[in-house]
Amino acid sequence: MGRRRALILQKRQVLVFFVFLGLSQASAESLRYSVAEETEIGSFVANLAKDLGLGVAELSSREARVVSDDNKKHLLLNLLTGDMLLNERLDREELCGSTQPCVLPFQVVLENPLQFYRAELHVRDINDHSPTFLDKEITIKISESTTIGATFLIENAQDLDIGSNSLQDYSISPSSYFYVKIHDSGDGKIYPELVLDKALDHEEESELRLTLTALDGGSPPRSGTTLIVIKVLDINDNAPEFAQSFYEVQVPEDMPIGSSITAISAKDLDMGIYGKISYSFLHASEDIRKTFEINPTSGEVNLRSLMDFEVIQSYSVNIQATDGGGLSAKCTLSVKVLDINDNAPEVIMSSVTKAIPENASETLVALFSVRDQDSGDNGRILCSIQDDLPFILKPSFKNFFTLLSEKALDRERRAEYNITITASDMGTPRLTTQHTIRVQVSDINDNAPAFTQTSYTMFIYENNSPALHIGTISATDKDSGSNAHITYSLLPAQDPELALASLISINADNGQLFALRALDYEVLQAFEFQVGATDRGSPALSSQTLVRVVVLDDNDNAPFVLYPMQNASAPCTELLPRVAEPGYLVTKVVAVDRDSGQNAWLSFQLLKATEPGLFSVWAHNGEVRTTRLLSERDVPKHRLVLLVKDNGDPPRSASVTLHVLVVDGFSQPYLPLPEVARDPAQEEDVLTLYLVIALASVSSLFLLSVLLFVGVRLCRRARAASLGGCSVPEGHFPGHLVDVTGTGTLSQNYQYEVCFTGGTGTNEFKFLRPVMPSLQLHDPDSNMLEKENFRNSLGFNIQ
Ligand SMILES: *[C@@H]1O[C@H](CO)[C@@H](O)[C@H](O)[C@H]1NC(C)=O
Ligand SMILES: *[C@@H]1O[C@H](CO)[C@@H](O)[C@H](O)[C@H]1NC(C)=O
Ligand SMILES: *[C@@H]1O[C@H](CO)[C@@H](O)[C@H](O)[C@H]1NC(C)=O
Repeated sequence: MGRRRALILQKRQVLVFFVFLGLSQASAESLRYSVAEETEIGSFVANLAKDLGLGVAELSSREARVVSDDNKKHLLLNLLTGDMLLNERLDREELCGSTQPCVLPFQVVLENPLQFYRAELHVRDINDHSPTFLDKEITIKISESTTIGATFLIENAQDLDIGSNSLQDYSISPSSYFYVKIHDSGDGKIYPELVLDKALDHEEESELRLTLTALDGGSPPRSGTTLIVIKVLDINDNAPEFAQSFYEVQVPEDMPIGSSITAISAKDLDMGIYGKISYSFLHASEDIRKTFEINPTSGEVNLRSLMDFEVIQSYSVNIQATDGGGLSAKCTLSVKVLDINDNAPEVIMSSVTKAIPENASETLVALFSVRDQDSGDNGRILCSIQDDLPFILKPSFKNFFTLLSEKALDRERRAEYNITITASDMGTPRLTTQHTIRVQVSDINDNAPAFTQTSYTMFIYENNSPALHIGTISATDKDSGSNAHITYSLLPAQDPELALASLISINADNGQLFALRALDYEVLQAFEFQVGATDRGSPALSSQTLVRVVVLDDNDNAPFVLYPMQNASAPCTELLPRVAEPGYLVTKVVAVDRDSGQNAWLSFQLLKATEPGLFSVWAHNGEVRTTRLLSERDVPKHRLVLLVKDNGDPPRSASVTLHVLVVDGFSQPYLPLPEVARDPAQEEDVLTLYLVIALASVSSLFLLSVLLFVGVRLCRRARAASLGGCSVPEGHFPGHLVDVTGTGTLSQNYQYEVCFTGGTGTNEFKFLRPVMPSLQLHDPDSNMLEKENFRNSLGFNIQ
């Protein structure tokens, strides 16, 4: 329990530490490490995981890196252990020169989210350099008259180490003439001075050789030596004299090599060789010797190499004028290097996030530093990015900047930004550096698929082959990758009657719709259903659209003849009175077609007739009429074959056989016919029939009575004459005449209803009403609208 609490506490401290470092970077503490120069490559410096309070796993998952300010890889981070190791041998003298302390700043950068910690590495000096004299041999000319106690400055030695490892002392080989005195110049450097301890005599000893040793303070100390050759000269009265003891010049750093900086001159009052002056540098450091040269005779100082303000800002050059007699004078030339804006700013990217999610509001995109090696205004940097981008630059600590996104972005509007960081200094002329970073906006599934049409209508002819491609729907998604990968699907039909799954299938990948089986227009004229499109984002987004499939009619149904019925065992027979006028309506053929439109437009035509020319068929309404008067020679029985044809492509047809019987009178009984149910409307006609029958019966009885009466009279006359027999005449009643039953109904033999049409009094008498349940026959003249209504109500067409 206590341990866990400690853990939580520790985490919180880490968090606080991070907030402190990450958000108020300018004032944050740095991590400090120290290492001695020349330490072996791979030496352990520190464990970063421990110091940052992060797990090793987190370090590697967040791609922790060590980024130096100068972009050099001094340090290496082992992501497996969290150890930070030396990546190279550090040479303090090369890295920092005489600067003390020698500090290498660096950052520890973590990605996702971008975060960084400041740190510094201190490089400690070790005594790895010995003091050295620039000249292996120094020659000094000294007049024999020089007084005891006179001092002679000698070239100092150089030691690149610093602090106690630097030059500390000089000593000289034992000599009775000279001893060495240390001269402190005040700038941290010490110079040796030879002091004359005993009068010289040119005649006794014209040359002395001494060894000067320089010692540093390291442990163990290192040393360097030079040979001093002293030439003892004859008398020289006057020493050279400089006009000024101090000269100062200002030289711009871009002064070309070989240019003359200034000319120094000294005077010597002596004549001859003792008045001849030669100039030379005194105590010149290696830097001075590399940079300047002095003409020994004219005293003109020239540039030997280019100066660099960024390395050395000023030189203090000691110049000695020596006459032929060995007397000398000294002056100091101060060379101030003027900065020229010769260095463009540098932009050093520490870390760049390649892609940021489009819905992230304020995200760290990059961390970079800028620097300019110039000084003053030449080194002051202004940093900017393009104005029209939703990104902002924020100064961080020191010369570091962070680049942040200002708000949430929209990848569908712009998926990529090229952000140009412009760093320009304030010098004259202005120098500018640009660095462009490319930031991708990564996709978030924020757009649902959108169909190209709000609804789709597809047409398909009936009797299609199964698996026929009937159309394609398509949707687009503005997102990218799997967020734009669309899958199509059929949504459950709203109409539960519609067995959608057996009618239609969809290709989930490309939205192609297929009819699964042959469709029948006569069963299903149209249907609609919903199709969904879903992307593969997480969470997935979807949308839907309405698809309407219209089945088109094909001429797949032949006309069907309703009247006369063709399946009846006994064919219908039409009666035709022999006295019919031309144009007499014999019958009307009624046919329907289950197709629609053109495919159901029927036409009639007479194919075959027993008596060609007697009958004609009206092509459009199926009426069969006579064309001429019938004659006695015309046979009584006619067989007509009619063709009913629709207007489809190709047309379909049916044939109708009609039997027409020519009758002399309407009452002629005929063949047994199929039973016809009685129409209630016929009742009053039955009454008329009864009247006719009664009349006929009365007439017959009257005729019989007359005959009987005549017979009886004849018989009586005959009996009176001969008393012979009497015969009654036969055959007056055809056996098949009207048979009146007690119930008053007609026998089954009388299938036809006999009608009188009042006015004509002729034999235009009958009209057949076949049983057509729910189907009314129309007058041929009835208008088309009525026909249309009728057709619509039944779903087929009547011609
Ligand atoms: C961005 O979108 C992702 C995925 O939809 C979501 O997990 C995250 O919370 C969103 N971030 C913001 C800042 O809205
Ligand atoms: C960004 O720069 C790259 C390379 O120069 C170029 O291919 C790309 O089209 C640029 N993108 C934009 C949005 O300007
Ligand atoms: C003839 O066909 C009609 C219509 O299909 C039907 O109603 C009738 O019963 C059939 N008649 C015979 C005798 O088959």
